[in-house]
Amino acid sequence: MAYPKSSLVLAVLLSVFISTVLATPMTYSVVSLGAKADGKTDSTRAFVSAWTKACASVKPAIIYVPAGRFYLRQVVFSGPCKNNAIIMRIVGTLVAPSDYRVLGNTGKWLVFEHVDGVTISGGVLDGHGTGLWACKASGNSCPSGASTLQFSNSNNIVVRALTSLNSQLFHIVVNGCHNVKMQGVRVIAAGNSPNTDGIHVQLSSSVTILDSKIGTGDDCISIGPGTTNLWIENVACGPGHGISIGSLGKDLQETGVKNVTIKTTTFTGTQNGLRIKSWGRPSNGFARNILFQHAVMMNVQNPIVIDQNYCPSNKGCPGQFSGVKISDVTYQDIHGTSATEVAVKFDCSPGNPCSRIRLENVKLTYKNQVAQASCSHADGTSTGFVQPTSCL
Ligand SMILES: *[C@@H]1O[C@H](CO)[C@@H](O)[C@H](O)[C@H]1NC(C)=O
Repeated sequence: MAYPKSSLVLAVLLSVFISTVLATPMTYSVVSLGAKADGKTDSTRAFVSAWTKACASVKPAIIYVPAGRFYLRQVVFSGPCKNNAIIMRIVGTLVAPSDYRVLGNTGKWLVFEHVDGVTISGGVLDGHGTGLWACKASGNSCPSGASTLQFSNSNNIVVRALTSLNSQLFHIVVNGCHNVKMQGVRVIAAGNSPNTDGIHVQLSSSVTILDSKIGTGDDCISIGPGTTNLWIENVACGPGHGISIGSLGKDLQETGVKNVTIKTTTFTGTQNGLRIKSWGRPSNGFARNILFQHAVMMNVQNPIVIDQNYCPSNKGCPGQFSGVKISDVTYQDIHGTSATEVAVKFDCSPGNPCSRIRLENVKLTYKNQVAQASCSHADGTSTGFVQPTSCL
């Protein structure tokens, strides 16, 4: 067929034009919907209205948050939506109420639920947690507070280049989600701030956490029941309580944790490095197929630890043993310094020993000397250079 060249060019231009128009996202700026970047005017309604429009759009949508500080009370970004490509592009800072009584016991500040295909890119979330931490430290009765950012029952979520500052409770929670990618996340909170886990994942599959730096008062990353196919790579932790699988086995009926890879991590001055922790009481939970690879410990109190006798205040578990079965856990290329003499501790369940624990090329020292390893009810092998000498 011999079309004139010019009509071919025209047809190509037309189709480029049509597809560009269809693919051009709708953009909703929170400022044009009434948000004020002054850090004190309540911008909650403007954000809700931007979300409502973005969610109702049949085309991809961008919610744009420019520079400045935007004060928000609790916001629930709820789906399902009419499109599955919503980007919230944040240049500025979202600010929680500095009076912790405003969020009180709500448990959550910014919530995404039942959404599919949401990206949050850039920005700072300031949880204003210091007042609540001080209240908790004073021994007065205080509200429990609110996690900064939570995704619940959602799929295909991306979080990138986001900073979470001074959360009241957990910084970022992933609950009941599938396919979540976080990259370039920064978590910043004081080393003594209570219950401020950096990223908590539970009941979720295919979650990836890459290139992130977490310093906080509780676990840098905590991995709860029902987590499968989790990949963590290139994460720096400290201050904090390390990366923890658990606590598991709080409940009698519990979904297990499986196929978790945690590679290329550094821990600086943390309470733990790589930890698996379960309650010392009956449960059908489990943790299996766990790979810890390439970790550097710098002055870490418990670099490698499995603790199956967790029983805070000795309530609800004395005299019982953990039902959580821990198996196929590999530690590969873990080195650095321990802040205590026992650098490797496997304290497994007397009624349910750990099995197929593997140590491969581990070198941990204490005060430039050989550190200790301690095992109870733990079974496994060691290969390559392993110091402290394996007790498996
Ligand atoms: C384990 O999880 C990774 C993602 O973290 C995935 O690519 C892999 O297929 C999973 N393996 C199995 C056996 O499910």
